[in-house]
Amino acid sequence: MSERSSRDRCLHADTRLVHEGTLRSEFGETSEALFLTQGHVYASAEECEARFKGESPGFLYARFSNPTVAMFEQRIASFEGAEAARATATGMAAVTAALMGLLQAGDHIVAARALFGSCRYVVAELLPRFGVASTLVDGTNLDAWREAVRPETKVFFLESPANPTLEVIEIAAVAQIAREVGAKLVVDNVFSSPLWQKPLELGADCVVYSATKHIDGQGRCLGGIILGSEAFIQTHIHTLLRQTGPSMSPFNAWVLLKSLETLPLRVERQTRTAAIVADALAEHSKIGRLIYPGRADHPQADIIARQMKGGSTLIALEIEGGKAGAFRFLNALDLIRISNNLGDAKSLITHPATTTHQRFTPEERAEMRVSEGLVRLSVGLEHPGDLIEDLVQALERV
Ligand SMILES: Cc1ncc(COP(=O)(O)O)c(C=O)c1O
Repeated sequence: MSERSSRDRCLHADTRLVHEGTLRSEFGETSEALFLTQGHVYASAEECEARFKGESPGFLYARFSNPTVAMFEQRIASFEGAEAARATATGMAAVTAALMGLLQAGDHIVAARALFGSCRYVVAELLPRFGVASTLVDGTNLDAWREAVRPETKVFFLESPANPTLEVIEIAAVAQIAREVGAKLVVDNVFSSPLWQKPLELGADCVVYSATKHIDGQGRCLGGIILGSEAFIQTHIHTLLRQTGPSMSPFNAWVLLKSLETLPLRVERQTRTAAIVADALAEHSKIGRLIYPGRADHPQADIIARQMKGGSTLIALEIEGGKAGAFRFLNALDLIRISNNLGDAKSLITHPATTTHQRFTPEERAEMRVSEGLVRLSVGLEHPGDLIEDLVQALERV
């Protein structure tokens, strides 16, 4: 095995997404190999003992590590600017492991209330079952973070932009408060994608992704990733993952590894198209409100300019007529498909109030600003003209 790292660290990020982490076997394959193996054999009992003690390098068992998974981990860590990464079976496995790895009974977590439904479940329902108290705050209000802090607060958690409202939180400012109070900041960076925002550079301790979204980008496999410093991963994440087993399958790692090669091409194009679509629809009479991180009328445009290098592949649209109006709009779409996923080459549209945020009470949805008329559009790789035509004809039937 060779070429674990690129020869030097000066390569541009796009180049590293093509080469970093490659473990080339004795066969000299061009494309990274898929090591579809549960385990490994050892030349001797002594070698096996040394491997288990960590005294000899190498792989042991796919619940702990696998060469294809390791290639994916190293490549995404290099792009993110993280010292270490651990892959998981899904994005939710990454979120859950990152939080559980940091917290124990008696601790307290403060989280932004605008969260993906499953993230909010973990924070507000699952962790309290294990003795971890949680407080949800308006993440855009820095005073609210400060006021929620207790002596036992150990973790801050946020998504920015948030799913599905695209609300943006000033990561550097929240990281500063976390540092002051001795808490770790975990950022779910899914909605920005690894391309447009680097939470570790902004002061976060840990970044999590659903690799299912832009990283795959072609609707094939689930995956998650946890990134941070070597010390952070070793102290808080490594043993939890190894012993509890939410590992990424080598097959999924292989698909996601190959996807990384085209991530910038896809996300740059999808973002450019999303900006064109957002501008074309912003003044439409059937749209009460359009939120796009990249437009000057986004409520946190100043923060976006400071902390994001690009906009988003997602647009939030408030359709006139509440749920009935939103459903008429979705059902009239022809090219854009109704689906709860995002980040895909195919443009997809979701009605969060009846899907991703369906399990919450109307009051909780109102608190998260998930209204009955809100739809979330994930812009794909189609031509912007075809998308606009489809959206406009559907709006005419609302
Ligand atoms: C912001 C955010 N975090 C986490 C997840 C969970 O990812 P997965 O579906 O891969 O478990 C999602 C999925 O939609 C998401 O939107």
